[in-house]
Amino acid sequence: MKDGKFPGALRRKFLQDAAALGGVAAAAWLPSIALAQAPKVKVGLMLPYTGTFTQLGIAITNGFKLAIAENGGKIAGREIEYFTVDDESDPAKGADNANRLVNRDKVDVLVGTVHSGVQAGMVKIARESGVLHIIPNAGLDAATTALCAPNIFRTSFGNSQTSYPMGKVLADRGVKNVVTLTWKYAAGEESVGGFKAAFTKGGGKIVKELWLPFPNVEFQPLLTEIAALKPDAVYVFFAGGGAAKFLRDYQAAGLKGKIPLYGSGFLTDGILEATGDAAEGIETTLHYGDALDTPRNNAFRLNYVKAYKLQPDVYAVQGYDAGLLLIAGLNAVKGDVSKKKDIIAAMSKAQIDSPRGRWTMSSAHNPVQDMYLRKVAGKENKVTGVAIKQLDWPPADRCKMPPLS
Ligand code: PHB
Repeated sequence: MKDGKFPGALRRKFLQDAAALGGVAAAAWLPSIALAQAPKVKVGLMLPYTGTFTQLGIAITNGFKLAIAENGGKIAGREIEYFTVDDESDPAKGADNANRLVNRDKVDVLVGTVHSGVQAGMVKIARESGVLHIIPNAGLDAATTALCAPNIFRTSFGNSQTSYPMGKVLADRGVKNVVTLTWKYAAGEESVGGFKAAFTKGGGKIVKELWLPFPNVEFQPLLTEIAALKPDAVYVFFAGGGAAKFLRDYQAAGLKGKIPLYGSGFLTDGILEATGDAAEGIETTLHYGDALDTPRNNAFRLNYVKAYKLQPDVYAVQGYDAGLLLIAGLNAVKGDVSKKKDIIAAMSKAQIDSPRGRWTMSSAHNPVQDMYLRKVAGKENKVTGVAIKQLDWPPADRCKMPPLS
């Protein structure tokens, strides 16, 4: 269209429509064309909004929406329509909930979830339907190994990726005997598995593995057992409300300061307001630390606090990065969600400029990222070093990527 004039046919149609609208100004009519041509991108958010992982689901949602807001509230010129489901961290409902979002609501992208057991159901639906799927937390190792697929991407971690570095750190320090304790489900098992692999490789010994069902928080009998076993150290995987309760109980049982406690960083992330000094001094490994002093992280934290009046944590970062990844994918096709092959190609080679530090996707679609050693000081997880640089774990070669269907 030259000189701001409409070509003949379009101009005639414009005048007819303007007349039909009874003198509505042309300026009001124009955006309605744009909207009709670019329907909203439908984003399905399937996350826990009740139960022990509630805060995690909220932080992921906030982080995702912040990335979109910083992008002008749109992706590639298209507005977003959200379809939100509380998955209750209930594995029994995982596949049904995901199926409803994909086949009833017809979402363009399925984002979720936190709990690895629920994730198994989502991965099943993503593989069957081919819907674009972004995992903003659940570490289910299989999602990027045995069950990897071209349309499945993760912006968080593999469960064993976050614990393997802690096993290495303790083995390098010459720690000998460790008791492990966690919830008995995929995330707990894989977290302990990763820790054990590195720790025993470095000469350490697991003297006992203790378990309790998810999301049980009756820790007392297990703490009594730990006191009797007197190991050199304890390794745990807990997260959310359960982690906060565990830290308080560990201190109340008189074990804090007697038997050093370690974990993957979920133990102390997002909960320091709720633990008083029960978390003080605890060391963990994770791909983020709230006190990371980089311009990128500082800017992110400032914007997040402004938007939500809450401090962000690792979950907020993972949600934010899920938003960045989707933006990278859809920008590559100018918002045309039907071009799935091109979206996947762009997402596979995206370099995410994350608050955690820059990261890339492995060929299995799991982040290759620095794993930090952190120590709680006051209300912060201070980064004291990098336990393992650019860790690709579980190793990407465990994924035999099927062709795009
Ligand atoms: C998981 O179930 O994969 C999971 C849940 C909470 C976390 C980390 C992993 O903080």
